Amino acid sequence: MTENSTTGVDEAVLSFPVERDARCPFDVPAALIDSAAHQPLRRARIWDGSTPWLVTGNAELRVLALDPRISTDDRLTGFPHWNAGRAAIAPIRPDSIFNTDGPGHLRLRRMMTRTFSYKRVEAQREKIQQVTDKLIDDMLAGPNPVDLVPAFGLPLPSFMICELLGVPYDNHDFFQEHASAAMDRYATPELQERLFTAMRGYMREVIEERLASKEESTGVIAEFADNIRAGDMTIDEGVALANGLLSAGHETSAGIISLGTLALLQNPEQLEFLRNNDDPKAIANAVEELLRYLSIVHNGQRRIALEDIEISDIVIRAGEGVILDYSAGSWDARTFDEPRQFDVARVANKHLAFGFGPHGCIGQQLARVELQVAFSTLIRRIPTLKLAVPLEQIEFKHDRLAYGVYSLPVSW
Ligand code: HEM
Repeated sequence: MTENSTTGVDEAVLSFPVERDARCPFDVPAALIDSAAHQPLRRARIWDGSTPWLVTGNAELRVLALDPRISTDDRLTGFPHWNAGRAAIAPIRPDSIFNTDGPGHLRLRRMMTRTFSYKRVEAQREKIQQVTDKLIDDMLAGPNPVDLVPAFGLPLPSFMICELLGVPYDNHDFFQEHASAAMDRYATPELQERLFTAMRGYMREVIEERLASKEESTGVIAEFADNIRAGDMTIDEGVALANGLLSAGHETSAGIISLGTLALLQNPEQLEFLRNNDDPKAIANAVEELLRYLSIVHNGQRRIALEDIEISDIVIRAGEGVILDYSAGSWDARTFDEPRQFDVARVANKHLAFGFGPHGCIGQQLARVELQVAFSTLIRRIPTLKLAVPLEQIEFKHDRLAYGVYSLPVSW
């Protein structure tokens, strides 16, 4: 037990991140569910021995995510980095939407909001359906059983993010490997520096090629090239943003498609409910529950307080680190009845799977449409889909920043 410097109340300092219990692989760790309900702000000890504030309550997360005195600037002393690797590259990363706030953040974010707007993403629904159908055609024509991760879960979001960015999908082996390695929960400085240099070199070439080309082109990178030519953006900023999108757009949606398929196969009554219900609203609702239930972004979004902030009888001091654990917030029993229950018919719209506030996920509409199309098509076209190995043999991504499965052998 330690003493909380602000309130003088004794409390356990939780070691963070908390490992998921291998016996209940879908559950957010019990200690975090308990924190959300009873101690929504508490100290946690992280890899470097520091003890930032850990925020797990749904309501408290919403308040702090909107507070302009909370910053994402990971170059400030006291910032609670994810790991030693992220700490090492923080000083060399250029400004991007991931490490800026306020007007500087808004300027960069606006350069992408149109592409990921509801309207522009809905216009891609047909394309997403075509890609999904083609992947399922190939699966059905290929070997049975098959690993669903490389056959379906990963290529759908990977292809779509390349399409929207204007990056050649032919290079997918290179950036899928790098995007995945960058999600190492315990990344070392050597690993992060190597990945950072490789991805920066790759994207700089893609952007410079676009800048030199006279051919008409569409996509985020073509828009970045226009912004760079107009002097509204530097090449370094374009590289950092494009790489951020490329990696954020991969592992997350891919993680939910594969892990979500497993969750549905393990809960046949939920699967049946969906299969017998082709109302798009029911599918959309089920996707929100899958996002809540799976809570794959499970390492806490990292922030630092710029000024003293008083919240729920606690004062977060200027310069103290803050961890916004949205996965716990999506399992807060004060917000969701029976959070452990997977129920595709529940109203789950208060989940925080995409974060909240000015840094909330920019790709959330894209992810939603990908997931809606992926799940509804998969369960309709392969009604006999089943797990091809016992659950105990599935390897879960306990060691990644975004949860998921390494492989998912299925048959039909
Ligand atoms: C199911 C899939 C996804 C999940 C669960 C997810 C989750 C998240 C979360 C939790 C955040 C942090 C929000 C915060 O700090 O408040 C975030 C931010 C972000 N996401 Fe996603 N994401 C997903 C898909 C995508 C896709 C497909 C893209 C690419 C288009 C994307 C791009 C981004 C970007 C650029 C940010 C940073 C936004 C900012 O700081 O302003 N995400 N996402």
